Amino acid sequence: MTVREFPLGRRVILDELAQDPHPILARLRVAEPVSWIPARGGWLITRYDLAVHVLRNPATFTVDDRRFSTSQVIGASMLSLDGADHARHRAPFAHPFHPTRVRNRFTALVEATTDRLIAAMRPGGGADLRREFAGPLAADVITHVVGLRDVSAESVLAWYDTIAGAVSGVTAGGPVAAAGAQAFSHVRTAVVRSLDRYDRPSLLTQAAQARLSRPEIISNAAVLLFGGMETTEGMIANAARYLLGDPDTLTLVRDRGDLVPNAIEESMRMEPAAAIVDRYATRDVELAGVQIQRGDLVSVSITAANRDPAVFTNPDRFDVRRPNARLHLAFAYGPHFCLGAQLARTETVIAMSRLLERLPGLRLDPDCACMPQGLVFRKPQALPVRWTA
Ligand code: HEM
Repeated sequence: MTVREFPLGRRVILDELAQDPHPILARLRVAEPVSWIPARGGWLITRYDLAVHVLRNPATFTVDDRRFSTSQVIGASMLSLDGADHARHRAPFAHPFHPTRVRNRFTALVEATTDRLIAAMRPGGGADLRREFAGPLAADVITHVVGLRDVSAESVLAWYDTIAGAVSGVTAGGPVAAAGAQAFSHVRTAVVRSLDRYDRPSLLTQAAQARLSRPEIISNAAVLLFGGMETTEGMIANAARYLLGDPDTLTLVRDRGDLVPNAIEESMRMEPAAAIVDRYATRDVELAGVQIQRGDLVSVSITAANRDPAVFTNPDRFDVRRPNARLHLAFAYGPHFCLGAQLARTETVIAMSRLLERLPGLRLDPDCACMPQGLVFRKPQALPVRWTA
């Protein structure tokens, strides 16, 4: 491989991917669907079929590598293991996160938390929907679901902001930031404290009975909390951004509440909260005519795959009636398909439905640019909105 073979990839800069990646990703998808990106020191996959191929073949494209960014910050977990070890780490959590069980067990919790947050915001006539609603909702729900005790959702949210920054820093090629390691030590302490109290069974105590070791429970709990907070905050904020940013669609969805679930799938297609996932080649392999070498970093751009015109017609259009919106890869694909997908969907559907119902005239603040940003985790920095109090 020489960089001359990948002229587009050679010119990609990380800031472009973090700010507005869609134009460059569209060009890469056509000209260099498997491209070498010197700025990341790895390959970037932008076509949907190739993304699926990579994600469903862990024997060739594994997460199990010491360079994997999340495991550098929080240790080995289901997210950073493949094969039998992956199955052992994931199994204790598969049952509680099964879609039917999530719907039956957690819908009331999500509704109550949503209602409480909306009631607190409502008299003000305006708020930052990300920090005052999406973040607290996601944090409160996952803290309860995981069974963390004696810790406020605000503290956990603050730790996770720091951990997400550290993971993004490693993905961008840097070392683990000291603040990230310290934030993880707070998570560790909170998990251990909750594990030591057996009076109420929780996801954590169940995992302990399933014979995961303490460090293994802590890392997996950290992943659950991470997905439950960082990406779910992004999913809710991005859904709100897309819906409120498109007045015609907003009117349609206000009249047709049954369109909310598909509108949310469509917003995830347009702007997945986790934009890139990393794999490492376990052997020399050819992909779309490109020779990849054993050990190479192979990143899948979920953002690019989700706008592949071979799967989604008119892919840059936000179309809440799109029949195949759910084919997006925002929750990944294959053995690492997001364990929390149903919980995140439940939260976002309830959140959006009730925001529209209970905050009359809900709209974006006219001064709000609010475009999602971020190399790995993408969401608006802030989402100022107004309504008629
Ligand atoms: C309640 C909320 C959530 C929880 C508890 C959660 C939890 C998890 C867990 C435990 C995994 C690892 C699965 C495995 O490796 O076997 C995972 C994977 C993943 N999750 Fe989530 N998640 C949540 C929400 C989200 C959201 C909102 C998104 C994006 C919109 C998302 C995107 C992903 C992706 C892309 C992966 C795969 C990563 C990879 O393959 O490298 N998750 N999630």
